[in-house]
Amino acid sequence: MASEPIFRGHEESLPTGAPGYTPKPHKPLARPLRYLLQEQRLLFALVGMALTSAVLLTAPSSSNGGGAVAAATGAASAGSGSLARRQYGGSANAALGAAVGEQERRAARLPLGVRRRGLRVVVTGGAGFVGSHLVDRLLERGDSVMVVDNFFTGRKENLAHQAGHPALEVIRHDVVEPILLEVDRIYHLACPASPVHYKHNPVKTIKTNVMGTLNMLGLAKRVGARFLLTSTSEVYGDPLQHPQVETYWGNVNPIGVRSCYDEGKRTAETLTMDYHRAANLEVRIARIFNTFGPRMCIDDGRVVSNFVAQALRKDPLTVYGDGKQTRSFQYVSDLVDGLMKLMEGEHVGPFNLGNPGEFTMLELAKVVQETIDRGARIEFRPNTADDPHKRKPDITRAKQLLGWEPKVPLREGLPLMVHDFRARIFGGIGVGVGDQQQQRNLN
Ligand SMILES: NC(=O)c1ccc[n+]([C@@H]2O[C@H](COP(=O)([O-])OP(=O)(O)OC[C@H]3O[C@@H](n4cnc5c(N)ncnc54)[C@H](O)[C@@H]3O)[C@@H](O)[C@H]2O)c1
Repeated sequence: MASEPIFRGHEESLPTGAPGYTPKPHKPLARPLRYLLQEQRLLFALVGMALTSAVLLTAPSSSNGGGAVAAATGAASAGSGSLARRQYGGSANAALGAAVGEQERRAARLPLGVRRRGLRVVVTGGAGFVGSHLVDRLLERGDSVMVVDNFFTGRKENLAHQAGHPALEVIRHDVVEPILLEVDRIYHLACPASPVHYKHNPVKTIKTNVMGTLNMLGLAKRVGARFLLTSTSEVYGDPLQHPQVETYWGNVNPIGVRSCYDEGKRTAETLTMDYHRAANLEVRIARIFNTFGPRMCIDDGRVVSNFVAQALRKDPLTVYGDGKQTRSFQYVSDLVDGLMKLMEGEHVGPFNLGNPGEFTMLELAKVVQETIDRGARIEFRPNTADDPHKRKPDITRAKQLLGWEPKVPLREGLPLMVHDFRARIFGGIGVGVGDQQQQRNLN
């Protein structure tokens, strides 16, 4: 049945004295007001407010309740600095103010009589390759570190040398689920990084990038922590600009087999900036280029680990395509340095963190042959889909604003990785101990 139009305008135009109109009785006082005035409720409420104000004004700022208030105001004042200043610029005064605010905020959350040294830092993905090296450096600096990892590609062995460290906690947790922790800094690394692993379950990869990042941003907002996202050079896709500058928006296939990772990380960057703009969250974004070093997953499909493992096992080095595609390789200690400088600096980014030294795959194979086995054979295979042709970071921004640049060249870092891989493939010294010692020599 078709519905008929209903005209209601006549109800409003009826004169008040017209038959059929019943005016509503005037209420002498609104109900809530009457309720408030009965039985001296208003008086009690006012006395209650006065007492609360007196307690809050006279209580020491280190009480828990005060801490919450201080944390809120600290976060608000930190956020009040202009977004533009914190994105790429800033003054020394602002940095000092932020540092003092941070200290006050941390001190305010502590109960009386409890002293804490260093920061409370969460490292998601801390049992992985990069994460475990970052954890070493944070512990060395005197921070309390919480590792949150689901051990998909991470390994307990990567942290075994720190077992029993009083400032380290390891939590088995999937970042796709929310978690509540009291922290000052969040390094968000959790995400499989090698094509073999991220293509294994692409839906889980994008969930980790989107939901995992949302959960960690939500946590940062809730506790007033500073948040650092480890994004990737993959956000540039198969770049049409070379070398890649942070202002380049990239050339990414949104429906390809790599897009669960590439687009996942691009969305993670978007979420990070949206939290920064909308919620005044303190954030940092690092775009990491190919990194290598001890504790990388063996056989994870990344070119350096592939070549090293193949040369050690006397297998042929597999080169995909014609081997003329280029990559740049950064040693892991340089990356960790950059991440920590970025986190403690005053600039949001994004910042390219990578080594601009550019190698073709064939040149890399040659370096591996020279380092491990001069007789190692090279075998060509068809290239994989969406494999970028060129990759080289422009790190001018990181040099100027973070005072960072990589120090360890490929030929110097590779032997350290080979030492670690040899021990893991053929057995030998405890992994993580020997390489840590050698690493210190490089720092
Ligand atoms: N290594 C590189 O060359 C490189 C390059 C660009 C970007 N990155 C980024 O740096 C970060 C670390 O990379 P990596 O090389 O150490 O990789 P990795 O695979 O060794 O480490 C990733 C860690 O995250 C954990 N993880 C994965 N999904 C998780 C989940 N849902 N919940 C909790 N933990 C989870 C894994 O178990 C692992 O410990 C990643 O975010 C990666 O995208 C690395």
